[in-house]
Amino acid sequence: MKLWGGRFTKPTNQLVDEYTASIRFDQKLAAFDIQGSLAHVAMLAKCEIISQKDADTIAKGLKIVAEKIENEEAELTEANEDIHMNVEKLLIDEVGAVGGKLHTGRSRNDQVALDMRLYLRDALVTITELLGQLQQALYTQAQQNLDTVLPGYTHLQRAQPVLFAHHMMAYVFMFQRDMERIIDSWKRVNRSPLGAGALAGTSFVIDRHYVAEALAFDGVTENSLDSVSDRDFVVEFLADASLIITHLSRLSEELVQWSSAEFDFIELDDAFCTGSSMMPQKKNPDVPELVRGKTGRVVGHLMGMLTTLKGLPLAYNKDMQEDKEGMFDTVETLKGALALFAPMIETMHVKKEKMYEAVAKDYSNATDLADYLVVKNIPFREAHAIVGQTVLYSIEQQKYLLDLTLAEFKQFSDAIEADIYDVLAPKSVVNARNVAGGTAKNRVEEQLKQAEALLEANHTWIKEKSTILQKLTLDK
Ligand code: ARG
Repeated sequence: MKLWGGRFTKPTNQLVDEYTASIRFDQKLAAFDIQGSLAHVAMLAKCEIISQKDADTIAKGLKIVAEKIENEEAELTEANEDIHMNVEKLLIDEVGAVGGKLHTGRSRNDQVALDMRLYLRDALVTITELLGQLQQALYTQAQQNLDTVLPGYTHLQRAQPVLFAHHMMAYVFMFQRDMERIIDSWKRVNRSPLGAGALAGTSFVIDRHYVAEALAFDGVTENSLDSVSDRDFVVEFLADASLIITHLSRLSEELVQWSSAEFDFIELDDAFCTGSSMMPQKKNPDVPELVRGKTGRVVGHLMGMLTTLKGLPLAYNKDMQEDKEGMFDTVETLKGALALFAPMIETMHVKKEKMYEAVAKDYSNATDLADYLVVKNIPFREAHAIVGQTVLYSIEQQKYLLDLTLAEFKQFSDAIEADIYDVLAPKSVVNARNVAGGTAKNRVEEQLKQAEALLEANHTWIKEKSTILQKLTLDK
């Protein structure tokens, strides 16, 4: 007999059971579902909707059920559809008919919204922890490479030299914005929808704030219809996750390029690479490749969720059960990628000499020759043309700018003097970019300082939230 079987005269078609059940995937919510129920049942007693004795029996039963599920001793069935009804059924099996009082003043609609928020909140803390570790690894590489010069690219053509530290810091700040987006989303995730009932609230005189406080929420949602219909918080997470993995994917692409013989700028540690079954010489950067590949599924989940919600009338619709697998998969995918990236970046060998060689063998100091002429009062546009011709000549002569004699320079402009050799040296070129956010060493050091304060603030936030969640688990 189904928990809702009263108004039915026939058993459910078995295919319908299989098709509509979510227990296959929503069993991931079991611990959160029970955590929510414990707070709910305590509130029911406190509000004298059920007796304290019944509440104690139910709470005791719920804890046994939680343990049985965790130890895989409980049978979760498709006939009981989802985690909520499976838990309720297991509870009744455990404590008898009194277990049937648990669902007083509650619907699966507000219950599932609650579980999703509890799950996501937990995942946000883990993800920010892992993201922080990656930022730290990038930061440390920056610290160790304040004198490492490599070509900077636009259009994947050598453009102007930059410090490798500067390049690493670009990712630190990218991930910082991702971090801040997640931290900001917390205030929208961390609200209790319980008490919204199926859609309209409940006729029992419950205390929504009591439940919210017991579960360490920052408050309750404002509108019952919205509370059971809202999956913005899932969409928002999927969007934040999409950006994180997109940033990881861009970094991945650079790691793949840099570890090719063509670039030869870095070597990933053996522990983070794999070989070929046929070609004995191969060492493949599978981890960044796979992270780049998995970007597709995360962005796909974002599109999927938006499309599911589009056109749904208020309030709850069964369509919304489709919110789970994409969110779970995104959390797992992101955790997996971040957990690998931090140690992979940390152990990455930076080939400083190779990077320097690449800078010495290109024309990425051409802008500095033009800027030099501008200082000598030649309009930039004219200087640009002069240097263009100088570069063309150098290519024909198979020389780089620093290989030209002063006489050769003077063919193109009389304004060029012997000090040009200092001006065009890679380190001078880098340090000439002495503007806030620029690649000059002192400016990159400035960035490191700014980042240090930001990373510290992230750390404080993460510690505070994980302490709250940990304490909640212990209290259970
Ligand atoms: N398994 C459902 C879901 O994930 C729970 C809510 C179902 N509510 C209902 N009235 N059928 O969305």
